[in-house]
Formats: sequence, structure tokens, C-alpha cells
Amino acid sequence: MSSFKFKVLIGGIGDDAHSVGIRLLELGFREAGFFVKSLGIRNQIQDFFDHAKDYDIILVSNKNGHSELYLNDFPRLIFEYKLTDNSPKLWYLGGSLSVSENAFEVKKRFLNMGFTNIYPKPIAFGEVLQDIKIDIIRNNIKERHIAAELNRPLHDLAPLPCHNILDRKLTTEELFKMRSDVLLEWPTGTQVLSHPAKCIGSLDSLLWKNHLTGDIPLFQPRTGVADIKEQISLLQYLEGVGSDISSVQLDSASRSKFYEKAILGRDASIERKNSVLNGFPVPVYGVDGIKKLVRALKNPFQLRGGGPDHRFTYEIALEGGASGVEGGFICYLLPYDKLCTPVESFNNWQYIDRLCAHFEEQHQLTINREYFGVLTASLIEPSLAIVVNVIQSILSAQQGCKSISVGYAEQGNRSQDIAAVQVMTEMVSYYLELYNFRECRVTTVFHQFMAAFPQDYVKSEELIYQSCVTATLARATKVMVKTAAEAFNIPDRYDNEKALKLCRTAAISAYSAKVSFPQIAVEKEIIKKEVKAIMKAVIELGNNSVALGAIKAIECGIIDIPFSPNLYNKNKVMGIRDITGAVRFLDFGNLPFDSNIKEFHQERINTRTVMERDSNLFSLVEKDLSRIWKNDYKSWPLDDHYIN
Ligand code: 5AD
Repeated sequence: MSSFKFKVLIGGIGDDAHSVGIRLLELGFREAGFFVKSLGIRNQIQDFFDHAKDYDIILVSNKNGHSELYLNDFPRLIFEYKLTDNSPKLWYLGGSLSVSENAFEVKKRFLNMGFTNIYPKPIAFGEVLQDIKIDIIRNNIKERHIAAELNRPLHDLAPLPCHNILDRKLTTEELFKMRSDVLLEWPTGTQVLSHPAKCIGSLDSLLWKNHLTGDIPLFQPRTGVADIKEQISLLQYLEGVGSDISSVQLDSASRSKFYEKAILGRDASIERKNSVLNGFPVPVYGVDGIKKLVRALKNPFQLRGGGPDHRFTYEIALEGGASGVEGGFICYLLPYDKLCTPVESFNNWQYIDRLCAHFEEQHQLTINREYFGVLTASLIEPSLAIVVNVIQSILSAQQGCKSISVGYAEQGNRSQDIAAVQVMTEMVSYYLELYNFRECRVTTVFHQFMAAFPQDYVKSEELIYQSCVTATLARATKVMVKTAAEAFNIPDRYDNEKALKLCRTAAISAYSAKVSFPQIAVEKEIIKKEVKAIMKAVIELGNNSVALGAIKAIECGIIDIPFSPNLYNKNKVMGIRDITGAVRFLDFGNLPFDSNIKEFHQERINTRTVMERDSNLFSLVEKDLSRIWKNDYKSWPLDDHYIN
């Protein structure tokens, strides 16, 4: 093999946690014969310049619309850099770059800063590769010798310090000791005085009632803007048009504890009358802000985050009157963070579980704990999501939580999706009982398709409608509602209103839809075997301690999430769709499966390679990740015709 190659540097910028695109670029360029170094997520622009002398092609990714906040220094840095190194270099920026500007404005802004090309919206890997090959010729970029040391990993990982794990309920004293430190994180922490606002509605009661007696799921839209007045008006509007649960997404600057940036973003948003943050910055508004928000609402209020340490933010939200918080030690670590260790994440989420239980014990307020079963949303075989839900349920129950919502993201094959929700409910109850946690009320959350959405509006609406049919047939307790605007922008109130109406219509008509009970039974059987195999390995690894077992399982790849940005995730497991659109394992990594399970997946994948006349597995995975947003499929769900 030649040791001369074109050299590409790839990485995400700022507080953005999206990692699927970065990983796909890495795999794609490697497949195309380039030398690739990936910095992973969460870099500053200076990090790219620090590596620039060794690379000719540099790709900066930003998917959360905050690029403007992190690239202000680019023109200065590139000017300074050129004074020391004037070799030709190609700089690209791509993703979803702004929450407030259109593609034309964004492109103009960043081309003017000195980038070679800008991709403000999703684009097929093949097109990017083609453009870059042309730029390489135009700019006379040469292949370079590849020095062996460049292949070294960027980070050496020490073994995890598992002796710190407390596998029992924390005492009130232990909680309070940590609490005084946590509340110092930002000045609004002084507002937490242990006099929580009474929740207006209880999320737990609402969910449990629907679980027992509801015919259709509850519907929850996503919202999150920087200006509190706008936020209140938005939620009130949605409550009037069919939203059952009011919630906000935490903006990603606050998720990463960049509170100064969140304040800048909030102030700029108020000045421009347009949110430049991608969510509502809870910590900077503080308890008083949340109280004001909650008082203005009729529905129960929940906060949704996305990061390994939300202790401070959730303190503020709970004191302010939120009756549910979301996340867990695995589901908010592996898909969202690069450097945080599973041990740190475990400790943070143990605190949150214990805090929620404290609200029940001290203030008679039941706090609902929900987990993000979506993970990275990209080719996640259902057993992976279910195992994560099972483990986190046991850990929350251990701290005294009574209200648990387990989550799953639809993949698009109706039989597999229904099977997954049903097995999830069954397995979570089974393991909670096994560990003697009999008092938990377990409900289910169905996420409408969470990967890149169709760009065709009609197809998007069909997806939302049919997805709700699937959720209703699966008897999910609530649906996290997407909107037909998903491919283009963060939804506004009208996008959400339309989606809510569509969902309700779909749910009411769901029972007339066609379902294949034999196929559901096949899917259930395989998923259940897989969950049991992984859980058995986890429990053995931990010597009966689920906490310890889970951490060790991540370390040795028995829990392994495709496309994770976290350094402790093995990243060996890979998913792929079969000809019915169901997700199978392309690579089992270190998953502890027997040959029957493995053969089941391999057979399905073989049929796909034959039917699609493509034996290049990267190419098939790339098709799976792009077919939906390219509208390149017949209809939703995919069961009868993903490949035919
Ligand atoms: N408002 C509305 N929807 C949001 N999402 C993320 N942030 C917000 C927000 N501030 C949605 C995205 C995607 C999912 C991950 O959450 O549009 O559907």
C-alpha cells in the first residue's frame, strides 16, 4: 500500500454533540483512500489550527446551529496562520449551521471569512467527495507521506476507577454534602432554597392514567427559545392546540455549562427578536424564571437536556416546579459527550435520581424520570436501546424513584418498532422485579424517527402520521412529536400545531392499519434473546452489581453504541438495514451473542447485498443514513419495500 495519501482533518466545533456525520466522513474518506484524522466532537477552532500544518483538507462540522458563536475568530486565525504557512489548504464547513439565518446568508457569511466551501444543509457524502477532488486539482494539493506516528490515538485511556462506585441508595447526608458544591456552579444556584414550587400538574399522574386507561398516546412537542416571554407564549399556544405535556429543550451552550455564552445568546436573541440559541437556557433564568414559566402553564412541565452532567440545571428546574426530568448515565453520555468517563456520568446521574427521590420523600412531589432511548438515532438495533433503559431503570429505582419512562426511537420497520416497544416494557418490568423494585410505575415514550428527516414535505407528513399509527399500535404511553419542518429548521409553533393535529388523527385511526403479527413475534423473540444475553453479561461482569457491570460493559464493548462520540465507547458495533428496513447488526463488536443470533442477522444482511447488488458495506450503510432525507424510499413505514 502506498504511504502517500491526501490528508484530511475532521472534527466538530463548539458545544455541538452530533457525531454521526463526522464518523461517516471519517469512514468515507478512508474508504476513498485518504488519510483521515478525526478530532471527534467538541473542539475549538484553535484545535484545528494546531493540527493544520500536517493536513491539507480540513472539514469543520457543526450541526446544532451555533456555528456563529464558535467561528468568530476564524478570519483572524487564518490570516495569522498564513503568515507562517502559506501552503494551499482547503477549509470546509458543513452541517446545520444556523438556527436563525437561511442557507444563502450562512454561505455568504462563512465564504467571506475564508472557507473554501460551505455545506449549510445535509448533503450526500459522494457529492462532498466529488467537490473536494476538484478543489484538490484546482489548488494543486499533493499527496503527502504518511508518518507512522500520525496513526496514534489522540487520547490514551486509563482504566476506569470503578472502586468509587456506590451501588446503593445515597443517604440524605451524602446528597446534601454534594448538593452544596453543585449549587455553587452558577449564581442562580443561591435561589435553590428547598421550597420547591408545587407542580401545576404531575407528569407522573398524567402518564400513569394514560397507561391504565388511554386509547391513544399523549403528545409532547419539542420547544425551546432563548427569550422567556416567547417561551411562555409558545407553550401556552401549544397547550391550546393539543399538546399534553409542556417541555423545553435545554440549549446546547447550557448543556455544556457555557453559561456566559448562553447569556450572550439570550441577549442577542432578545435584541434581534429571533432566537439564536437552540433551546431555553434554564440555568441563566434561574428558579425565578422557571417558576414564572410553570405558573403560566396548564400542563405538567418537563425539562429535556442532553449531556452527562445536568445536576445544576435539574436542581433549578425541580425547585422551579418541573415534574419530570430526562436523561440517564448511559443515554446522556455515550451519544453526547467525548471526554466524560462512564464513572463520572454514573455519579452525576445517581445524584439526579437521588434528588428526584428526595422530592418525593421530602416534599411529596413525584418526579418522573425519563430516558433517551434514541441514543445516536442512527442504525441502533433495538436491543441496545432496551438494555440501556433496563440498566437506568434499575439505577433510578435503587435511589428511590417511582415514576419511570423508558424511551425508544422508531427506525421505520413497523413490526420491529412495535416489537421493540413491547419487549422494552416487558424486560424493564422483568428486571425491576428481579431486583425487588416492585413499586415503580413504568410508562413508555415513542420517538418519531430521530435521524435526518425527509426533505420532501409530503413524505415528512406521511412519516409523522404513520409513525403515530405505529406508536398507538405499540401502546406507547406518549409520543415525542416531530414536525414536517424537521429537515429545514427548528420547528415553530405552527409547525408543531400541524404535527399535533396530524398525530391525533393518525392515532384515532390506528387500529384499522395493517400489521403483521407473525413478523412482530419473530422480531420480539430475537430482541428478547439479545437483551437477555447482554444483561446476563452485564450482571456477571458486575458480580451482581448492575452499576459496576454496566460501567465495565462499556469499557469492554458489551455495551457499545454505533456512532458514539465518547472515547470510552468501543465503536465496534455497527448497524445496517435489511430489505424490510429493519435494523440488524452488521458488526457485533464484543456483544455476547450466540451463533443463532449472529446467523439471524447475517442472513438478513446477505439478502440485502444480493437484492441491492451492492456488496460494499460502507456504501450500504451510507445509503441507510441518507436514503430517508433524500426522499429515496417509497413510503413510511418501510416494511414491504425498503429494497425490492
Ligand atoms: N425547539 C423545537 N424543537 C427542537 N429540537 C431541538 N431543539 C429544539 C427547539 N429549541 C428538536 C429537533 C429535533 C429533535 C432532536 O429536537 O428539531 O427534532
